[in-house]
Amino acid sequence: MPAHRPDSASPDAPGPVPTQPHPDTVFDADWLSLRSAADTRARSAALTARLAAWLTQRAPGRTRALRLSDLGSGSGANPRYLAPRLPGPQRWHLFDHDPRLLEHARQHCLALCDRDGQPISAETELVDLRTVHAAALANSDLITASAMLDLVDASWLEGFADICLGIGCAVLITLSVDGRWHIDSGGVGGAGATPGADTDPDDDFVRAIFNEHQHRAKGGARALGPDAAARLAELLQARGFVVELAPSPWQLSAAVPSQAALARALISGWRDAALEQRPQARTRIDSWHQRRQNALAQAARTQGRLNITLGHLDLLALPPPAALTPTHDPSPPSANSPHRR
Ligand SMILES: C[S@@+](CC[C@H](N)C(=O)[O-])C[C@H]1O[C@@H](n2cnc3c(N)ncnc32)[C@H](O)[C@@H]1O
Repeated sequence: MPAHRPDSASPDAPGPVPTQPHPDTVFDADWLSLRSAADTRARSAALTARLAAWLTQRAPGRTRALRLSDLGSGSGANPRYLAPRLPGPQRWHLFDHDPRLLEHARQHCLALCDRDGQPISAETELVDLRTVHAAALANSDLITASAMLDLVDASWLEGFADICLGIGCAVLITLSVDGRWHIDSGGVGGAGATPGADTDPDDDFVRAIFNEHQHRAKGGARALGPDAAARLAELLQARGFVVELAPSPWQLSAAVPSQAALARALISGWRDAALEQRPQARTRIDSWHQRRQNALAQAARTQGRLNITLGHLDLLALPPPAALTPTHDPSPPSANSPHRR
């Protein structure tokens, strides 16, 4: 997930940022909007349906709205996707450290309804997730996040798995990058590409550097990057959750203008991250970037073939039966200690 940083902070941001966010954890609202259609197409409908069934089963005996907690909410893409697909009544809690994005999320959520057409409620919380307490998530029926898991480190993830077990909630973490991407240009890689080959000679080179960048510390220890979803699956399985992982790749075609725009931004984001990680390879990285942008532009112009597949994983974890209590008031093992990532 390249950061796609905003140019500058908005002067009329609605509140103080609790801590200074690491630049690799700051995202531009335009980037989130650009990726939103590809995210919607990519997400696992099967896991969403399984979650909806689990939440519905939980309804008997429930005297309150479902509490759905979304971590790293950004402009609210996750509730926008999930709310109309899940039973109600729904009360969303959206957590993020970016006040401008949270304001977007709040606005978007005003118009959302649950599966039965009833309006949802949503509150936003400006918080640094590195120090989020179990108490902030208590009573969640679902803890969810989209496109943010790669940012966390190993100890944060362990603390997170403990919190989920203590609460006994479902966990849906979607669109976590898995470190794989592939550009299929039908041999149109441009100058420097092997004739007739599907790949540019430097795709592997740039991908490897980009994945190194994904592991850079983002205000804590080394980030898990593309390993995060598989690691969370192990941690939750070890705690008795029933865990399912499903692929949710972006599939972008240069022939579709909105997808070509996302592909352009993606290739530039890979270039920027690779340059940050390996500045001494600037010439090689810039040449790769130019070849790939040229090939993309040519395919878009001629309706030729250029497809990008970017691997993601969706994870659904349902809690062990002992943790499944409709009126829980958990005292999670970690309730008194902040979890840093
Ligand atoms: C790639 S965006 C995804 C946003 C949204 N979930 C989506 O799918 O469009 C990652 C989000 O995580 C938030 N984030 C990253 N690190 C954070 C931290 N330490 N505390 C709170 N929010 C954080 C960013 O502000 C951003 O909104």
